Parts: sequence; structure tokens; C-alpha cells
Amino acid sequence: MNILHTRVCDILGIRYPIIQAPMGWVSGPALVAAVSNAGGLGVLANQLAQAGGTIPEPGYELPDAEEWNGNPNEWSRRAIRQVKSLTDKPFGVYVREDPEFLKMMVEEGVPVAVNSGGAPASMDFYKRHGIKVVHMGSTVAHARKCQEEGVDIFALSGFEGGGHDPGGHEKLTTFAGLPQVVEAVDIPVLACGGIADGRGFVSALALGAEGVRMGTRFAVTVEAANHINHKMAIVQAIDTDTVRRGERFADILRSLKTPFVKKLYDLESSGAPVEEIKAFMGHESIRVGGLQRRLLGEVQGDLVNGEVHAGQVSGLIKEILPAGEVIRRIVAEAEAILRTFGQVSNGSLSLAQCLAALRRP
Ligand SMILES: Cc1cc2nc3c(=O)[nH]c(=O)nc-3n(C[C@H](O)[C@H](O)[C@H](O)COP(=O)(O)O)c2cc1C
Repeated sequence: MNILHTRVCDILGIRYPIIQAPMGWVSGPALVAAVSNAGGLGVLANQLAQAGGTIPEPGYELPDAEEWNGNPNEWSRRAIRQVKSLTDKPFGVYVREDPEFLKMMVEEGVPVAVNSGGAPASMDFYKRHGIKVVHMGSTVAHARKCQEEGVDIFALSGFEGGGHDPGGHEKLTTFAGLPQVVEAVDIPVLACGGIADGRGFVSALALGAEGVRMGTRFAVTVEAANHINHKMAIVQAIDTDTVRRGERFADILRSLKTPFVKKLYDLESSGAPVEEIKAFMGHESIRVGGLQRRLLGEVQGDLVNGEVHAGQVSGLIKEILPAGEVIRRIVAEAEAILRTFGQVSNGSLSLAQCLAALRRP
């Protein structure tokens, strides 16, 4: 019996309710397929193709910016086909709200659409084509809106998370927000932000989540497409090595404190003039400048001048593992925790013994 089965498994057709978060250039076909093959849901990020070059590992080609701008949907189609050549299990795609992109998704038989921010769009289209929708937000109001619009699964993005918009403007944490969201809606909720192992998974279940959505843990896997320097920097990080920045420009991100990010954060928070910040970023547009710095960090491995996303949970991640092994370990840990607590409720273990058994060296 699979004791970790929830409604999320039924809706998405997966074995374990563990979803790999979409991550810019990180979640390419190899990672997506590895997660799905191990019983979770891999999610392809469609920004992948903007990397502007070829990444030798893990073996897929990327267009240059001109090619990408000319025909982004065809590049996404190629990446989707690569996923399909590596797995026959369900997977998701981070959608671009463009009718051509949506049409391509249907042609390619993508089973799950993943999106975030604002009100969910194109719901009639997804329903008509039998595509399941996972939408991310950061408050009870977002969750209610998603339910109203017919979203299948809501992912609560908490303050702890890496990458885009952790906790939104209200800065709710995963673990404070989660039970409130679960009480407010009937659709299943995923905990997103701050989870990297079986302990976090079980805690999220205890608060009513029916699954987890993890980014940082999957960015530190063999199959993830980011540069080894990014993966190693997370392995070496401690609890305080990330910072949430970008609130001033409504583009909130959590990243490692590289020298570039530290300086940028200081400029943003000290109220430096926008022109000075643009000059420091090296681009007229703060958003494009930010993307270029991410390319520099996440793809080219420059951890001095670049930006690399990572969550507060980075300090817990101690090794680069195959993505399938990440899932196997989380499942085994979660099952062991549930069994050990079960022994407390049947009287064969005291709570003190149970907690001692679960304590890590
Ligand atoms: C390396 C990395 C890259 C990310 N890239 C994106 C992105 O391009 N777009 C996006 O919406 N979220 C992005 N995210 C956020 C994730 O989708 C997810 O919300 C987050 O990782 C969850 O928190 P966790 O890192 O604590 O698991 C990224 C996260 C990481 C760690």
C-alpha cells in the first residue's frame, strides 16, 4: 500500500505527491523526466530556451536569443518532445499565455499546465482539452480565486522559497499560511517553499497539504541543467546565505548572497536612485538586467557577478543526488516518520523515544 497517496496523485496520475517546481534554466527535459520516472511530477520551465547558447550537460541544445525570439513555441515543442522521449509518465509545463503556445501544448499532449501569479487564465481552454492545472499563489485570497476559476491544485508559495515570488508582497511563510489556505478551499493544496526532505514533507501533510512542490532540492541534482558552481554553492550554503530582494521593483526573488546580489540588495534597500541600480545591473531594464545576471550565474557559473536562485532550505542540502534518489529518500524518510509516530499512538514507543529516533546526528 502506498501510504503517501493523496488526491494530488489521482488528479495528476502520479505515484507520490511530490512536484518539481518549474525553474528557469534549471528544469530541462532530463530533470523533468527523471522526476516523473521516479513517481513525482517533473515540470518543464519554458524560459529554458532563452539561455542563448549550448549547455554541454545534460545534453540538450539551446537556441541563441535571436532564434528564440523568432520562434519560442517551436523551441518549447522541441523540449517537450525531449521530455516525451525520456519518459512515458505524466509531466507538467510552465505555460506561456499565448494561443500558439497553448495550441502546441495540446498538439504535444501535455497533461499538466503549471502557472503562477494573478488570476489563472485560459481555464476554459484547459478544461476543454482535459489538461489539469496547478496554479501558484501566496495568500488565502489567491487560493479562493483559483478554486473559483476551476484550478485543480493550488500551490502555496511561502516566504522561505527560492526563486520567484516567495511569500509575495504579504510575506506569509509556508507553514503559517498553509493551514489557513487548507481551511479556506476544498481543492488540494501543495506546500511550496522550504521543503527539502521527508521531515518537511510530513510536516506539510500534517498541516493539511496534499503534496509538496520543491525547487531548491531539485536544483541540486545530477540532471538539473544549472552550472555545477550553482549546485555546489547550495551544498556549501548555511541557513543565512539567501536573501529575498526585488520588492521595490515588484519582481521579488530569493537568491544566494553572491557579491553581486549583496551589493544589489544594499542598493535596493538603501533607496538608491533607480538610475544607479540600472547602471549597477548593466542594463536599461531592471528585469532584463536581472535575467542576464541569472544567465551569468545559473548557466555560466559566475558566482561573483551573477545571481543564482536558492531557498532558505539550502543549508539542509548536503549533496548532489540523482533526482530519482531524492524522491526515493524523501518517500522512505516520510514513511519512516509516519511509522515511528504510529508506534507512539499504539503505545509501543513514548513520544520522547520517537523524537530521539527521528533526530539526525
Ligand atoms: C534555482 C531556482 C530557479 C527558479 N526559477 C524560477 C523561475 O524561473 N520562474 C518561477 O516562477 N519560479 C522559479 N523558481 C521558484 C520555484 O518554482 C519554487 O517556487 C521554489 O523553488 C519553491 O521553494 P524551494 O526552493 O524552497 O523548494 C526557482 C527556484 C529555484 C530554486
